[in-house]
Amino acid sequence: MRSVEGMSILITGGGSGLGEGAARYFAVRGARVTICGRRLEKIEAVANSIGPNCLGLQADITKAEDRDRLVEAAVAHGGGLHGLVNNAGNMMRGPIAELDEQGLLDIFHTNVVAGMMLTGLAQPHLAKEGGAIVFMGSVHTRRAFPGASPYAASKGAVEALTKVLAAELGSQNIRVNCIVPGAVLTEINQRAGLFDDEAAAKRLNDMASSHVLGRIGREEEIAEAMDYLLRAEWTTGTSVEVDGGLGLGLTNA
Ligand SMILES: NC(=O)c1ccc[n+]([C@@H]2O[C@H](COP(=O)([O-])OP(=O)(O)OC[C@H]3O[C@@H](n4cnc5c(N)ncnc54)[C@H](OP(=O)(O)O)[C@@H]3O)[C@@H](O)[C@H]2O)c1
Repeated sequence: MRSVEGMSILITGGGSGLGEGAARYFAVRGARVTICGRRLEKIEAVANSIGPNCLGLQADITKAEDRDRLVEAAVAHGGGLHGLVNNAGNMMRGPIAELDEQGLLDIFHTNVVAGMMLTGLAQPHLAKEGGAIVFMGSVHTRRAFPGASPYAASKGAVEALTKVLAAELGSQNIRVNCIVPGAVLTEINQRAGLFDDEAAAKRLNDMASSHVLGRIGREEEIAEAMDYLLRAEWTTGTSVEVDGGLGLGLTNA
């Protein structure tokens, strides 16, 4: 397997959570990492604390001009592009009869459409390097959380398009895979206005016993899966469950 040292990796949504964890994981292993997010202060703080291996850009992946700028900057920063991690995502919940149509379109724009558009932009650069794309799915496609249909539907789309893009891009030696994480404490629920920090931490930790391994996950455990999928040269079109066994549907009856 090749090493990530010297790889150029673009990670969307690197200002917090799993994207931030991944940026730190890859930069310390010698990769040239480019991260983005809409909140400048978050992106700057992460990039500055990582150092020269990390370039932080304020960019909204739902905007075409920002996507162009982002891919261009990642190629310049890393001297090409070996990996695209379509990590940026948002949560949306609500009872089906009360869902706001624009909200639904927005969640699909961020979680599905923007990653597809970025993949198209990255394709010629990744083809030069035999590169790889990693999408972020969710355990919401394995376990049904009432009220979470918008988020679950967007993640189901991500898993479906992973397989099609793997088939489409394989002849260019570009691999496409997806990670299906279980619960990891990040900002996603708070940013969606669902819980404050304390309630989010309690809610996730209360889910520990639903995981076969008895605990929620850590950011670096998701980064380890990204690492594998960026390097594994004979793995494509797959969804890897990194969820402590949450998706198994533990039943103690
Ligand atoms: N944490 C979990 O338990 C879990 C489980 C399964 C899957 N996931 C998936 O993992 C991925 C990362 O989520 P996370 O848990 O790490 O949440 P997070 O801490 O909220 O990180 C998501 C990041 O995406 C950025 N983002 C959102 N919309 C964006 C946009 N339009 N353009 C650019 N950046 C954008 C956010 O920054 P700005 O708001 O500043 O733009 C934020 O930093 C998501 O795809 C999520 O669905 C998470």
